[in-house]
This record gives sequence, structure tokens and C-alpha cells, in this order.
Amino acid sequence: MPFTANRAFKAAPRMFVGAKDMHYLTEDGRQVLDGTSGLWCVNAGHCRPKIVAAIQKQAAAMDYSPAFQMGHPSAFRVAERLANMAPGDIDHVFYTNSGSEAVDTALKIALAYHRARGEGHRNVFVGRERGYHGAGFGGISVGGIPANRKAFGSLLPRVDHLQQTCNLREAAFSRGQPAWGAHLADELETRIIPLHDASNIAAVIVEPLAGSAGVLVPPKGYLERLRKICDTYGLLLIFDEVITGFGRTGPCFAADAVGVVPDMITIAKGITNGTVPMGAVLVRRGIYDAVVNSAPPGMVELFHGYTYSGHPLATAAAEASLDTFEEEELFKRSQELAPYFEQAIHSLREMPHVIDIRNMGLVAGIELESKPGKPSERAFRTFLKCYDKGVLIRTTGDIIALSPPLIISKAQIDELVGALGDALRELGRD
Ligand SMILES: Cc1ncc(COP(=O)(O)O)c(C=O)c1O
Repeated sequence: MPFTANRAFKAAPRMFVGAKDMHYLTEDGRQVLDGTSGLWCVNAGHCRPKIVAAIQKQAAAMDYSPAFQMGHPSAFRVAERLANMAPGDIDHVFYTNSGSEAVDTALKIALAYHRARGEGHRNVFVGRERGYHGAGFGGISVGGIPANRKAFGSLLPRVDHLQQTCNLREAAFSRGQPAWGAHLADELETRIIPLHDASNIAAVIVEPLAGSAGVLVPPKGYLERLRKICDTYGLLLIFDEVITGFGRTGPCFAADAVGVVPDMITIAKGITNGTVPMGAVLVRRGIYDAVVNSAPPGMVELFHGYTYSGHPLATAAAEASLDTFEEEELFKRSQELAPYFEQAIHSLREMPHVIDIRNMGLVAGIELESKPGKPSERAFRTFLKCYDKGVLIRTTGDIIALSPPLIISKAQIDELVGALGDALRELGRD
């Protein structure tokens, strides 16, 4: 089982057998409130009728269409819509089947772009400590979560990492983007660029809000500074929005929330509301043009792709998901609910062991002090207690992450935070 304590799970399994709107149904017939949108992906809630119907209809009409040298209209319709939704001149789309593949694809496009411009020596990638960019070798190389790297090494030849941006001494219990920390971006210019030389660096990849390592909210001005430095030295800036895409931080993309246009955006998860695996890389026009125009007419321009890129079931699910987001104005709803969610989450400040609470849009992280010698134990026990109380939360180390579907009601926010508060209280001073 992926990222799971296999032996512990198999000794005491937790099985879901159904889902509807804000709830899962367990094998023993209990309703569980989904505080995590599955794995950050079910942004419109579960089993939404329009999305279910679209997938069913597509499965009966055309089950598969070859991805290479053939196309189908739905893939182009979705690309058109994504291009319209993306910020700035990001207006081309390359499909993958997951976030990990989207990240590896973006890294490859960065190399292809520089090579097409006669700068093939640009092959250094810059990630960030505590970054998560999926489980592929590209993603773990630029990623910065030690456990995900230690057994596998780094197969990308030249990678460096910015320092992470979360500082409990300076910015604990910030509401929204912390005021402290913009200067951390300067490390790109003062250490990394001098060390490798700008002429060798292909791209910088960051999650605008780091999710998997425990909800690290970008300091005010930090992403803006990264953008400026990348522009000065000709480095591409990639935002990995696999988690933050589709309304999680308020607007469609976190790029919109902070007003920064990156050169590429990786997406997955929410694009199909979690129903059918799908990912994509959204690319600025200049990158597309450089790569495509570098090959002789009639020849394949980018030797990359997947059998299931733009799978008809995935694109049908994406069209219906985008319809649902639009019809129900879910991004607006996310922005409107954010202050209430923030207030509710920060009410947990006085609970035992809580050393930080962070939030942006409809995402929050609650950090617990680790038990000496037993990291992760407190948060995982809280997770089990919440599950018993009928609420699904997620933990990473000793950080609890909440990212409910954007359809959550205020009463359900109270229920989620209430159950979490009870669980933390029961954990007591232990
Ligand atoms: C920022 C980010 N990038 C990439 C991924 C990998 O996506 P997937 O699990 O679909 O491969 C994730 C997954 O959580 C993610 O959060």
C-alpha cells in the first residue's frame, strides 16, 4: 500500500465502501465527514451527479482513443478551458495521468525549451526543502522530504534546494500568508546562482503553498521575489499546483492568489474532482513555440507522452468537473468561507501540544509538538481518534492537515474542528 504502514493497517484496516458529497461510508456503516477532500482532490465533494454521468456516458461512447498522432475533441476542449483559466500567457496544455508525471513532464519541457534555444547546458534544477513533487525520480530529486529521498538517491544529475519557509520562532500562528520570510527567496540569488552559475540553471520548482510536508504557507512577497530573480537570470519558474489548483487557496490557482505568473503550472487531482486519474502541465506560449518550432516540419517535436495522456474518460470527467466548479461558483465559495474556516481553526490554539496553526484559503495545518523519541505518534493518534469520531483528517509527521471539499458548510466546519478539538483534548498532556 502506498505511503502506508502496511502491517499496522492490515492488523486493523480502515475501509471505505461509499461516498456522497461531504461524507464517506465505512464498511461497518458509519458516515465519516471528509476533512481532506480524499487526498486533496475531491474539491466539489463526492459522487457529484454531473461528473458521474459524464464518465458513464463517455465509457459507453468511446472508451479509448490513441494518444499519439491522434486526438479527440474533448481533450482539446478541456485544454482550451484550462488555457483560459490559467494566468498570463500560459495557454498550452500537456496531459499526464498524475501529479508525479506532470512534474517529470514539466522538468523535461524545461530542458527541451533551453535546448531548443541553444542553451542545452542549462540542466540544474532548484527545488526546496520540504517540497513534495510526487514519487517519480524527477519529483523526489527536486523534492525535499528526507524520507522520500533517503532510500532512492537523486537520479537527476544536478539539483540544489532552497531552504524551506516555515519558521515557528518568527511566524507561528500567522493567519494567512506570514509577514515574515520574503527574504528567504534571496538565497536563490546569493547562494545558488553564484554556486552553479545562472547559465547552467534550467528551472526553479516550488509548490506555491507546500501541502504534503505540512501546509507551509508562502510568506508575503516570497513568490514575487522568486519570480523577479528568475526573470533576471533567465530561469524558468514552475509552480506545482497539484494540491493548490482548483480553488484550494481561493482563486482557481494559487498563482492568482499571490498575483505571480509562473512559466509552467503542474496540475492533477482536482482537475477531475479526483474521479479519473489525470494531470497536466500548463505552459506559457513562448515555451511551446520554442520547443515546437525547433523541430523540422512534420516531425515529432517533444519525444514524451503517455498511453493515457488525455484519456477520454479523464477529459470527460474534467469537463464535467470544470462545469460543476463554475455552475456552483465553488472558487468564490472557497474565498467566502476562508475567514470562517480561519477563525474556527485558530480556536484550537490553546489545545494540548499545539505549537502552530497555519492557514490559507480552505487549507490549514495544525502542528503538534512531537513526543520525545516518538515523532508522528501524537498526530497519528489524533487521526485515529478523529476517525472513530466520524471525521477524516490527514497527518504528516506531527502536523495535521485539513483541506475539506469546497462545498463544506459552516456547520460542518464546526463539526470538523469540534471533533479535532475533542481528540486533542482526549490526547491530553500525554
Ligand atoms: C504538490 C504535489 N505535486 C505532485 C504530487 C504527486 O501527485 P500524484 O500523487 O498524483 O502523482 C502531489 C501529491 O500529493 C503533490 O501534492
